[in-house]
Amino acid sequence: MEITEELRKKIDLEIELMNFSGRQPVELYEPIHYIMSNGGKRIRPVISLMAGRMFGKDISPCVGPAIALELFHNFTLMHDDIMDRADTRRGRPTVHKKWNTNTAILSGDALVVLSFELISATGGDKLPKLLRIFNKTALEVCEGQQMDINFEKLKDVSEAEYMEMIKLKTSVLIAAAMEIGAVAAGASENQGALMYEAGLNLGLAFQLQDDLLDLYGNFEEFGKKPGGDIIMNKKTILLIRALERAGKSTKDQIINLMENESDPNKKVQSARELFDNQGVEENVRETVAEHFNNAIEMLYKAGGDKKRTEEFIGLMNKMADRKS
Ligand code: IPE
Ligand code: IPE
Ligand code: MG
Ligand code: MG
Ligand code: MG
Repeated sequence: MEITEELRKKIDLEIELMNFSGRQPVELYEPIHYIMSNGGKRIRPVISLMAGRMFGKDISPCVGPAIALELFHNFTLMHDDIMDRADTRRGRPTVHKKWNTNTAILSGDALVVLSFELISATGGDKLPKLLRIFNKTALEVCEGQQMDINFEKLKDVSEAEYMEMIKLKTSVLIAAAMEIGAVAAGASENQGALMYEAGLNLGLAFQLQDDLLDLYGNFEEFGKKPGGDIIMNKKTILLIRALERAGKSTKDQIINLMENESDPNKKVQSARELFDNQGVEENVRETVAEHFNNAIEMLYKAGGDKKRTEEFIGLMNKMADRKS
């Protein structure tokens, strides 16, 4: 079995052992069981364990913190879907659709507490350092999410502002997964910092891909309804690049569409045509590739075991082709 598949199985088993479906009150824990057991790529814990393998023979100290990252990630999704009014995730109804908003708020709150509880119980002698990374990251994700919401109401968001927003809402958690795994396995301060930097690039590529998939993805594979970002007036890389490349009249057309079109299907369809005319899809794919390349280059510099570094790069190459 391939190493990433093996790690993923280990993660799934650890999550199953947390036995959310057996906890009381069921109204609180059933939605947690639902989101934690309905698939998901488990990319953050897998990355964290792959990072750990680069710096230590024994990755058992990395497992608890890796699962804590996945719990935290799923908490962000539960609340993000309320904020983004998303009906589907991983091909199934979102928690607030299957139950209701109050349920998604409270089960999400419980999930975030569970994530901190787990890292606290498993951090060992590295706990102070791991908690510093985890806390800082958790707050930054909230900051990024607030920027994302603020941008819905703004006309002019620069690419630099957008990059800062996605760094906070998405990249820092992937970067933290890399650093936490490395540090828990015994990496030095400096190695941990280099892993974090590689993770920031990987995370930027990952969110740029998510923006692409939101419009061009296939529902069966991606599991989220296409065009959600357009409907919500999200400032995605596609919109920002389309506006930047368009001439005055097309630019006005795009702005008018985003502000005034009330039919969601028409809005998504027209946005897609306008973006296609500006060639943004290909253009963004090039930027995605650049960030993957930066991440790979930085991973080499982190100074971990050579063979295991290459296995990690194999995973990054797979992520570069993701459809889900
Ligand atoms: C979705 O994350 C949210 C983003 C940061 C883009 P994933 O694409 O990792 O979601 P799952 O866990 O695999 O469903
Ligand atoms: C991802 O933002 C960031 C977080 C969930 C924290 P999105 O809103 O793009 O994520 P999806 O597309 O709903 O998974
Ligand atoms: Mg969002
Ligand atoms: Mg969302
Ligand atoms: Mg998205």
